[in-house]
Amino acid sequence: MPKKTYLIKCTAFLAALVLLGLIYYCKNPKVASEYHSPKVLATHYNGENYVGSETCMECHANIYSDHLKTAHYNTSAVANEKKILGNFEPPANVLDLEYVKFTMEHQVDSFFQHTEYKNRLNTNRPSSFDVVIGSGVRGQSYLTWQGDKLFQLQSSYHKPADSWVNSPGYPTYAIERPVRDGCIRCHVTFAKNKNIGEGNQYDKDQIIYGIDCERCHRPAAKHVSYQRKKPKAEQSKFMLKIDSLSRQKRLDICAQCHSGARNNQLKGNPFSFLTGENLDEYSQNISIVGSSDQLDVHGNQYGLLTNSECFKQTATMDCTTCHDPHKNQKGNTSYFNQKCMACHSADKTTCSVETFQTKSMDDNCIACHMPEMRSKSIMIKLNQKDSIESSFKIRTHLIKIYTEKDWSNDGSNAPEVQ
Ligand code: HEC
Ligand code: HEC
Ligand code: HEC
Ligand code: HEC
Ligand code: HEC
Ligand code: HEC
Ligand code: HEC
Repeated sequence: MPKKTYLIKCTAFLAALVLLGLIYYCKNPKVASEYHSPKVLATHYNGENYVGSETCMECHANIYSDHLKTAHYNTSAVANEKKILGNFEPPANVLDLEYVKFTMEHQVDSFFQHTEYKNRLNTNRPSSFDVVIGSGVRGQSYLTWQGDKLFQLQSSYHKPADSWVNSPGYPTYAIERPVRDGCIRCHVTFAKNKNIGEGNQYDKDQIIYGIDCERCHRPAAKHVSYQRKKPKAEQSKFMLKIDSLSRQKRLDICAQCHSGARNNQLKGNPFSFLTGENLDEYSQNISIVGSSDQLDVHGNQYGLLTNSECFKQTATMDCTTCHDPHKNQKGNTSYFNQKCMACHSADKTTCSVETFQTKSMDDNCIACHMPEMRSKSIMIKLNQKDSIESSFKIRTHLIKIYTEKDWSNDGSNAPEVQ
């Protein structure tokens, strides 16, 4: 074969190969290996990787789309016009305290808090709204970055009054509170602290906002990778089976954020605990409260529920007896009533109040037995000048028979029966 034809044939063969490769690539823009090993969003301290709920969508479509509507998913986010609920239009954009006045300003895509000291001439540089905390059921707080350090803004938003308020627990002069793991651990899926649990310096690329699937199900990179390589597999791998866990371990999933502050860190840091482990080995509440009336309704549904007869006298009740963790079920009274009736129907213990009375309330069991009570731990001053204090009302999880004494202690009225 003359050298020239050989060279032409070789080039043609190579060109064809490149063309084939190009066609394949255009048809499958996502290279297979990229699909099989999804992008890692963050790495837990135990080395497992988080990949985010978008990767779950293709196989768990319904759970994925329901979850987007939950308070959990929306409890934190990068700040933007849609996420920030507070008002930036004058005159509603002001928080006027005794020694300081804050003015909220909106510029194109950025949002700022300006500080004006009343007893000093100097001014601070404006702080930007960078992170939103709270889905907005009751209110929102906002965080700001200074380099890689995270701080809380003093201005918070109070939904019922639709106005700016001093952040709970803040004085009436200006301060800046560093935001450590202990504060954000219940409002984000994961955050990597540069000094683990100590300071407020974070790896900004390793924060997963919102309470996403992997906070309750553990980091899922291996599961996603395996299932994608074996799309026909009916059995799953590398995913903890929650229904095979003990009652306590199932409760611990929710208790990590719904059982009080748990400020006494015994092991690891606020993000080390993962579902399937024993939560009490990681953290506990500092004061062990003696009786259930001393538990605050804010953030301790676990403590209240476990003090209720329904819980104590059954072997299986846990949070998922009444809640579907993937759905937003707020206000769905008839759904919750059915949950009560599953154990309190005709042949078991029924309500001893006259049927006509419960019927006149649409069988709303929770209005009388799990009423909304005032939280004593979060007080908000709506107006610093006449110092009106307003508290949040939160649905108690102490299921019991409420008496006149309970209602007067709470400063509210018993639900009305016609
Ligand atoms: C390529 C498909 C696929 C992807 C992607 C996927 N899963 Fe799965 N997953 C499955 C299959 C198949 C099962 C077993 C059958 C079932 O329960 O639906 C399963 C089961 C589960 C279970 C139940 C536990 C068990 O072993 O039965 C959980 C929890 C779970 N997946 C969570 C997730 C999360 C969280 C993500 C995203 C981070 C995810 N999955 C992504 C296919 C997938
Ligand atoms: C131990 C877990 C935990 C910690 C720590 C925690 N929160 Fe919360 N937070 C909750 C829970 C649970 C709720 C929902 C209301 C309830 O049950 O009391 C909530 C509600 C909120 C809300 C209202 C959300 C809404 O949509 O109405 C805001 C705002 C908020 N928290 C901000 C903060 C800030 C700021 C910090 C840090 C200083 C913080 N939280 C620390 C668990 C926590
Ligand atoms: C707040 C915690 C929490 C979050 C967030 C969460 N799950 Fe779950 N998930 C649970 C619990 C608890 C169970 C067990 C339910 C039971 O046994 O009744 C469960 C069960 C499951 C199951 C198996 C049983 C079923 O219902 O089919 C799958 C699959 C699943 N979750 C996927 C997901 C995916 C995907 C996401 C995110 C889009 C997600 N979960 C978010 C707590 C959570
Ligand atoms: C990582 C912390 C965390 C975990 C784990 C967690 N929650 Fe929550 N939960 C929160 C926070 C924070 C809120 C308040 C969200 C908001 O409104 O901004 C909340 C709100 C709720 C609400 C009120 C929803 C609404 O629409 O107002 C319910 C119900 C709830 N959680 C149940 C559960 C159950 C059940 C589990 C366990 C399967 C669980 N949570 C696990 C932190 C958590
Ligand atoms: C016996 C049924 C039942 C059980 C068990 C139960 N809950 Fe609830 N929970 C309810 C009802 C009913 C509501 C009120 C729903 C609404 O606002 O429409 C509620 C509301 C909540 C809220 C929102 C409170 C508020 O006022 O914003 C949180 C948070 C919550 N539950 C967490 C939990 C956790 C965590 C567990 C397990 C420790 C749990 N629940 C177990 C029935 C139950
Ligand atoms: C898993 C089963 C179960 C569920 C679900 C359940 N309970 Fe109960 N409940 C019990 C048991 C068992 C007792 C204790 C036996 C008794 O009082 O007769 C009890 C006791 C009670 C009592 C009497 C408490 C006391 O201190 O005397 C009330 C009131 C009550 N339940 C209301 C409710 C309401 C309201 C719901 C729904 C939000 C509910 N229960 C859901 C099993 C359950
Ligand atoms: C109008 C308020 C109201 C409503 C609505 C209501 N209850 Fe009751 N319930 C009471 C009162 C008050 C008692 C105590 C009566 C007594 O001891 O004489 C009681 C007692 C009970 C008991 C204890 C019975 C016993 O003798 O030990 C149970 C269980 C119970 N209720 C369940 C329910 C369930 C389930 C529903 C929803 C179908 C419900 N209740 C609706 C007010 C109410």
